[in-house]
This record gives sequence, C-alpha cells and structure tokens, in this order.
Amino acid sequence: MKPLPFKLPGRPVTPLFLAPQAGVSESPFRRLCRSFGADVVLTEFVSAEGIVRGSGRTADYLRFDDEERPIGIQIFGADPGTMAEAAALVTEVYEPDFVDINFGCPVKKVVKRNGGSGCLRDLGLVSRIVRAVVAATPLPVTAKIRSGFDEAGRDPVAIGRACRDAGARMVTLHPRTRADMYSGRARWDEIAALAGVLDVPVIGNGDVRRGEDAHRMRERTGCDGIMIARGSHGAPWLFHQARAALDGSPVPGDPDVPTRFEICIRHAENAVAFEHDADKAVREFRKHLGWYTKGLPEGRRLRQRLFQVRDLHEVREVLGRYMDSTGDHSTGDQGCSTLAGGFIVTGSCANPDSLRGAPAGR
Ligand SMILES: Cc1cc2nc3c(=O)[nH]c(=O)nc-3n(C[C@H](O)[C@H](O)[C@H](O)COP(=O)(O)O)c2cc1C
Repeated sequence: MKPLPFKLPGRPVTPLFLAPQAGVSESPFRRLCRSFGADVVLTEFVSAEGIVRGSGRTADYLRFDDEERPIGIQIFGADPGTMAEAAALVTEVYEPDFVDINFGCPVKKVVKRNGGSGCLRDLGLVSRIVRAVVAATPLPVTAKIRSGFDEAGRDPVAIGRACRDAGARMVTLHPRTRADMYSGRARWDEIAALAGVLDVPVIGNGDVRRGEDAHRMRERTGCDGIMIARGSHGAPWLFHQARAALDGSPVPGDPDVPTRFEICIRHAENAVAFEHDADKAVREFRKHLGWYTKGLPEGRRLRQRLFQVRDLHEVREVLGRYMDSTGDHSTGDQGCSTLAGGFIVTGSCANPDSLRGAPAGR
C-alpha cells in the first residue's frame, strides 16, 4: 500500500475518502461522515478565479473545522497562473492538509472555459496546471481525474502519468469520461491499470454504493484508498459499513428509522448552525431530507411534506408525525444517547457496531 502524502492518524489500511461534491460535501456533512468513519474529506470544488477575487461565497466553501482533518481543498480552473495564486492563498489562509486539483467536473459551464474535465483535452495544459500549483504551495498537491474527455481520448493512464510527472502526489480516478457523465458503469479495470503503474497512491472512485462494494473495489483494483460520493447521500453510515467490509468483519445493516431520523435531525441542526442564513440553510437541506427518507414506506408523501418545510421545527414535526403514523418509535435495545463526532445519535453511533439492521429500504 503506497503511503498517503499527508498525516493520517491511526493509519487505516485502505483509507476511505468522502468525495468532493458541490452542494453536498459541506462542513456539516463532512463532519458527520468523519464521525461514521470517513478517514479523509475534501471540500467541494472551488473556483480559482473566485478565490483570487476574494468572493464571499467562495470563502464560505473554504471554511472547515480542525476536527475535519485531514482535509483537502479542491480547486478548479484552466489558467495555471490563477490556479497557482489560488493555491498559495488557500495554503496561507486556510492551511488544509493538501490541495486537490479538479480535472473531472463535467458541467458545461466549467468545461466551456476549459476547467474541470475540459483540461483533459490538452495534457500539456494538465501538466502546466499541476506544475504551477506544486510550485506555489509547500503542501502536497493531488489530482482528481476522469478517464478522458471522450471515448476517442480515453486514456486514464496517460492522464494519471501526466499529473504524477508534473508533481501530483496522489491521483484519484473516477473511471468515466466527461462524455459518459454518470451513465454506464465506472470501469474499475482502469483504476487497476493506473494503480499498477503509478508510484504514488491511486484512490479508486465510482459506484461504491454498499459496504461490500468497497471490499470488491480494493480486491479488483489494488487501489490505495476508496472515495465515496453518491452512496453516502442520506447514508453517512456507509463509511462504517465499508470499513467493516474492508476489515473482513460482518457488515452492519442500515440503521432503523428512528435512528436514521435522529442522524438526519442532528445533520440539519449542524447545517443551520453553519450557515449565516437559517432559511436558506433549511431550503438547501431539503435534498438531504429527500435522501434520508428514500425507500421508506409512504416515502413519497413524506417527501412532499418535507420539501415544503421552512425551519427546523417543521422538520422535527413532519418526521415525528411520520413516526407516529407508522408507530415506529423504537430506538433499539441500546436506549442510550451517545456523541459521535459532535452528533448525538440515539443508541448507536459511539458503538456503531450496534447500528441495527432493520430494513429501511435502501
Ligand atoms: C452532487 C455532486 C457534486 C459533485 N461535485 C464534485 C466536485 O465538486 N468535485 C469533484 O471532483 N467531483 C464532484 N462530483 C463527482 C464525485 O466526486 C464522484 O467523482 C462521482 O460522483 C463518482 O463517485 P460515486 O459513484 O461514488 O458517486 C460530484 C458528484 C455529485 C453527485
């Protein structure tokens, strides 16, 4: 296993990463996932231009707590000079553990200006960006890539090598092209190919939805770490399940409904406390409410109500009424309240082995 370029307390075999995700991987969710066993987290991608201009909203994306460490700040942009300036700024002001460069974002607005996966059309540009960022910061610089811009240019090994040769000290591969967006399956064979040739850690990413997937990915690819994005939506406990699978221990089931709601409410409270504008925080939290209630009986009707909530009080009320209507108030036989990473979770999370396996429908 190739060592990571930053300190990782406890040095777990095959570290688990919470993926950078715009609008999702914000500080409250990062802390929640850390409490469930994510070993490393990243900010969502932040525009280098925004950082250099000192935009207020950008500063919000960059804030993090020490308890989130190790954390990487992810930046994107197509101009090596601006990327270098942004890297120097975030290093000085925020002191993250590493700086990650986004070469994967498929969104039109970003690609049009050659940012994100747009850079993959020109490996010379990829090299110049990585070199410029490496020269601008004493922190380890890492890169997150897709397999190529389109099928014709599909060559994850060449892209990974270009990053490495320019000084990247870890490469994460999401093995789809920009043209694939999120369709089809992530090609884990490409993660294996990259892990086989690079002398720096290769982090595998793509389609880890259950604990067992993490184990399968490691077995099939020999990757040095595993990054999870969509599987964690409304299911931060996936990290605990993935760790159990990697350790060869029995994989705990999903938490029962009351425990799930308790986790959801604590997450919402932290989201509101983190945002300056409580109304906006609740509006933006609605997507999480949708994810936390996915697969529940009568879930559609529940979500219709949740998508209209305006404050935390209403969130608690709607979830409470749902439990009344289903008669589901059990919090398991542990019956205690414990603190896990700042989140009070009823009856389970300080000892997450006790997450109960009542089917919640995921
Ligand atoms: C809502 C959302 C936002 C994302 N934002 C980012 C981002 O800011 N930076 C990035 O590198 N990738 C971003 N991604 C891509 C993920 O990090 C990841 O590469 C991709 O979802 C595949 O992993 P998964 O199968 O575990 O979801 C985003 C994905 C989603 C679903």
